[in-house]
Amino acid sequence: MTDPQIILAGRVQQALGTAFGQEYASEDPLIRPSQFADYQANVALSLAKRLRRAPREVAQAVVDAMDLTDITVEISGPGFLNMTLGDDWIAAQAVRQLADDRLGVPQSAPKSIVVDYSAPNAAKEMHVGHLRTTIVGDTLARVHEHVGHDVTRQNHLGDWGTPFGMLIEHLIDIGEDEALTRLASGDGNAFYQEARHKFDDDRTFEERSRSRVPQLQGGDPATLRLWREFIEYTKRYFNHVYSVLGVTLTDDHIAGESMYNTMLADVCDELESSGVAQISEGALCVFPPGFTGRDGTPLPLIIRKSDGGYGYATTDLAAIRYRVRDLKADRILYVVGATQSLHFQMVFAAARMAGWLHDDVKAEHVQIGSVLGADGKMFKTRSGASIKLTELLDEAVGRAETVIAERYDDPALRKEIARKVGIGGVKYADLSVSHDSEYVFDFDRMLALTGNTGPYLQYATARIRSIFRRGELDPAGFPGPITLGEPSERALALQLLGFGAVVETVAETSEPHRLCNYLFDLAQSFTSFYESCPVLKAEEPVRTSRLALSALTLRVLVQGLDLLGIEVPERM
Ligand code: ARG
Repeated sequence: MTDPQIILAGRVQQALGTAFGQEYASEDPLIRPSQFADYQANVALSLAKRLRRAPREVAQAVVDAMDLTDITVEISGPGFLNMTLGDDWIAAQAVRQLADDRLGVPQSAPKSIVVDYSAPNAAKEMHVGHLRTTIVGDTLARVHEHVGHDVTRQNHLGDWGTPFGMLIEHLIDIGEDEALTRLASGDGNAFYQEARHKFDDDRTFEERSRSRVPQLQGGDPATLRLWREFIEYTKRYFNHVYSVLGVTLTDDHIAGESMYNTMLADVCDELESSGVAQISEGALCVFPPGFTGRDGTPLPLIIRKSDGGYGYATTDLAAIRYRVRDLKADRILYVVGATQSLHFQMVFAAARMAGWLHDDVKAEHVQIGSVLGADGKMFKTRSGASIKLTELLDEAVGRAETVIAERYDDPALRKEIARKVGIGGVKYADLSVSHDSEYVFDFDRMLALTGNTGPYLQYATARIRSIFRRGELDPAGFPGPITLGEPSERALALQLLGFGAVVETVAETSEPHRLCNYLFDLAQSFTSFYESCPVLKAEEPVRTSRLALSALTLRVLVQGLDLLGIEVPERM
């Protein structure tokens, strides 16, 4: 374990135990980075009242009882403990990190984690919002896997429900071949719009569509065949988007709404017989406590409509039961738009009432904020139509090629760099803001080489590689030793040691932007180091030490970007 904050916390807690009794040994030492030292601990202030002693006295007692090997501690102000790590200690930890395949990322006791993400609708459109749930969800799946959990990716595809009546009729009208080709090429949005218009304007089409729905739900073979084809061809498009994006989702992870169809009746029966659900105005509803409408009346979660049909909530309840009972999930992450917050709160509450979501299982809605256009409204094309995602990604790659990759003559190399930079830029933009905030989709910003962007971090890795290339050296050939002379060397090494704790925090909080911020700070620390410390031109043993620090920075950046699902070009 290389993280300095954790090591210091241990030291302070041990001292608390020795000074005030073991009941204080698990007190949170309240450690923060400090302006005046590496870290400060504020626990003396918080404990003083309980101990009925002056905070500075408490602080002194802690210092007296503390193991001060490799650290110096000073008491400042009302009783802050300012702690500074010894240079040799930092250097030795950095060498250990360099020798560690996991770069200091601890291995957790494995839990079973279901990540529900991406989940576009075959019946509607895949929009930039789905791009964001896909990208954020994929990172969370990668991070959990990396810290040692068993991850089940589930793509809760919108592949079932009443709109399919209308879509199947439209498919028949325009001819299967033509329809399927269009769906596979990502024309699903336009296809949906056409069907919708016909449904609104044409009575006979509307009637045909309506009567198609019970045929689908009742399993009529001809209808099911058309539905399957529809889904199959739409999935081809989704899979294409996934492969362009470089996310880890494949056909194996599809667990769409249709999968739960056969469980819905049973889910309703179980809820009704256990008294969790009641009939209200003909519909079967759960009224989870604490959810009321504006007028104060209890809000229903409708699980069977008065016409006998099931809805989105029923499917989600079936999914929760399946995930806990069959997949043995310890934790379920729903990476879904923030607008569905009420839905998930009510579904979780109902699942708790049913006993499916018990105390040992955590279900969390990882709320995803909307992606906006420059006008502050939902992101659309100028004509107001929603954007084809493949076109958007193509444009990112094309722009990256002009902005960044134009200095490479070799067309294959240029394409490769442009692809990694363009896609990496789009992904990083989704990941670097906190997942629940909205942000404005802006190509210029996401592809900029400066600032907290994907290309900036990719460039940082390429620059470190170029140091080794110029020296005709292999980064793997520098295991240390590390000595820390300049302040910027020390700051870089200290920053590197924090990697493991950040990855753990992302796993705990489901907040990938914390890893982005860390990597951005790290790249900046490297820049300061590189500006003030010559590397290749330094004398030995400093040269070897600086090369080791550079190699470690490269590995942490590449590993961190890999957890974000971002590829790095060898040169840029
Ligand atoms: N298909 C839904 C949508 O586009 C998202 C599904 C999210 N997952 C879930 N279990 N409800 O809004």
